[in-house]
Amino acid sequence: PRLVVLISGRGSNLRALLEAIEQQRLRATLAAVISNRADAAGLRFAEAQGIPTQVVSHVGLSRTAHSEALRDAVLPFEPQLICLAGFMRLLAPAFTQAFPWRIVNIHPSLLPAFPGLDAQQQAFDYGVKVSGCTVHLVDDELDHGPIVMQSAVPVLDDDTPETLAARILMAEHKTYPAAVERLLHEAWEIVGRRVMFQSSQS
Ligand code: GRF
Repeated sequence: PRLVVLISGRGSNLRALLEAIEQQRLRATLAAVISNRADAAGLRFAEAQGIPTQVVSHVGLSRTAHSEALRDAVLPFEPQLICLAGFMRLLAPAFTQAFPWRIVNIHPSLLPAFPGLDAQQQAFDYGVKVSGCTVHLVDDELDHGPIVMQSAVPVLDDDTPETLAARILMAEHKTYPAAVERLLHEAWEIVGRRVMFQSSQS
């Protein structure tokens, strides 16, 4: 099965997905990496790996126009799943409706706590003792769709927002490929607010 990964920046989750593919923990191929920013470090990485890349800039476009341009860029790759990996633009129905329940995102908190930007800082400031990451299907609301998988991460007494974010990121790099592997290769359905796999392990 083919994946298209959408990024805006660093691309460490993109790397984690590719590493999992190379190690055959994730049975998939990376068909393309698309960024809204030409200067995304993840794009340089993808190019170096010989993965097709594309830039679909949002500059000067409405959200809908950008989503239409993204949709038109993704469609020819015929991906089974589209993975958002640090993709920092909101997707309009023009995009989400073209790929119903075939878009997946990773967010650095235990949703529904701390959606939006700076989730790790939000969790730190709130004083929670446990945070983590969430893989969810994408709907038209920010950080909101049915939950696929979550991993909990402790907040330690001597944490700073940065050390907490680094610990959550390590969990992201394990959780995202595992969630994508299950979505691609197991039977699942959406029940209420969660994705239920037929062979329940989590
Ligand atoms: C990650 O923390 C991810 O959860 C969030 O944005 C960050 C992207 O990091 N959506 P990277 O570009 O994958 O390194």
